[in-house]
Amino acid sequence: MDQPHVIIFPFPLQGHVNSMLKLAELLCLSGIHVTYLVSASIHGRLLTHTNVQPRFNHYPGFSFQTLPDGLYEGSLHNPDGIIQMYESLKAIAKPFLIDLIVSDRLSSDARRPVTCIIADGILSLAIEVGEKTGIPVIFFRTVSACSFWAYFCIPELIDAGELPFNGDNMDEGIANVKGMEGFLRRRDLPSFCRVSNLESDDFKIVLTETRRTPRAQALILNTFEDLEGSILSHIRSVCPKLYTIGPLHGQLKTSLARKTTSSSTSSNSLWEEDRSCIRWLDEQPMKSVLYVSFGSIAVVTRDQLLEFWHGLVNSGKRFLWVMRPDSVAGKDGEHHIPAELEEGTKERGYMVGWAPQEEVLAHPSIGGFLTHTGWNSTLESILAGVPMICWPYFADQQVNSRFVGEVWNLGVDMKDTCDRVIVETMINDLMEVRRDEFKKSADEMSKLAKRAVSEGGSSSCNLDRLIEDIRLMNG
Ligand code: UDX
Repeated sequence: MDQPHVIIFPFPLQGHVNSMLKLAELLCLSGIHVTYLVSASIHGRLLTHTNVQPRFNHYPGFSFQTLPDGLYEGSLHNPDGIIQMYESLKAIAKPFLIDLIVSDRLSSDARRPVTCIIADGILSLAIEVGEKTGIPVIFFRTVSACSFWAYFCIPELIDAGELPFNGDNMDEGIANVKGMEGFLRRRDLPSFCRVSNLESDDFKIVLTETRRTPRAQALILNTFEDLEGSILSHIRSVCPKLYTIGPLHGQLKTSLARKTTSSSTSSNSLWEEDRSCIRWLDEQPMKSVLYVSFGSIAVVTRDQLLEFWHGLVNSGKRFLWVMRPDSVAGKDGEHHIPAELEEGTKERGYMVGWAPQEEVLAHPSIGGFLTHTGWNSTLESILAGVPMICWPYFADQQVNSRFVGEVWNLGVDMKDTCDRVIVETMINDLMEVRRDEFKKSADEMSKLAKRAVSEGGSSSCNLDRLIEDIRLMNG
């Protein structure tokens, strides 16, 4: 009964739900009570495709709470869909959360009233909920420190006349994101900056939500000091109470191994995982396979699909490709494999609709990852020591891919191109020509990531500090 009680409230998308559920489990492992707030549809998909429910049954202090109906559930593959989701969430969640807390419906004999809200950092509505109810609010951003900081500096870019730009001179340098002078170009800014109109809705939302971050009591980032230390020092100048506790999936594994008899984690997938690819990987030579996946939101056009396919088949390398049922723009059936590529695919490739990604990346047969550089995927690749070819799709991914290629030397950045010859060349660079160079830096970074989440490591200590601070909050 004396345990703190935290509401965890993610934006209802795969990358957000996944990492915030991992945070929920880490808090549960410390005995903290957690109410995890999601839409009914996300809740249903988690129950259908994962072992989340039986897993969380081990934590008596955990419960799901679903949002009331009315949430936009249409296509989220374009900014308009995400804005509609955001607006409907704001309208529903704010009064609902206030009522939930004020009416004290979540407490019981075994559970205290809510003592803290950990909200997705793009849901600044939580600040107003905190102000109305007196409950402290901590933000969790699912993105990298580098992309968060680039978002945060947008007003400085506008003041300095570096924004807006009209989509031209994309290689021109950006001078006003502190800590990134010298290597950040227009094309590396978050995709929302590629607007000529600063009044556009998606641009305004990203800008406003990020600038509100310092109004929360603290900020949690899924990253680690050795990876983004220099950028984190800039973020600390505006958000001094900052907990870097990533990579969360590594942190959870370590904590489970320390505190329970098993270190296996749940998948948290919103799609059915096709595990046949693990059997296929078992049969491939060490480090021979390129894993291809563009996360949960990105869609490719039929032309782009063909460029990737030709590049992959022409490279002569083995590949495992995740092709979500909704990942190709256009009509159903248009993405059938062209006959001329079918042989190359059968010979060296394997395709699934959704993979157990963390397990795939940790498999000894994987030698590279063609990724959209979503932050979860990037961290999963880093922890597993897998070099990357980056094809950023939108949002934070443009910044991440610049850091992968230019700052961390963990792979190559294919940004803004999609051409079969370039795809083939980059695959050969990653898997052959520069293989040793990339593998060396990937191995070193993987070691640092593992050290961060092990006992006494920076992320592990920061998590302990976060838990202690939550215990000091009385709601
Ligand atoms: C997006 C953003 O780009 C990301 O940076 C932000 O933090 C959250 O929103 P998304 O495009 O889905 O997320 O990418 P990513 O962050 O990489 O998350 C995808 C997740 O799905 C990863 O955890 C990955 O392991 C998982 N996944 C993906 C699978 O489990 N199986 C698959 O086949 C593909």
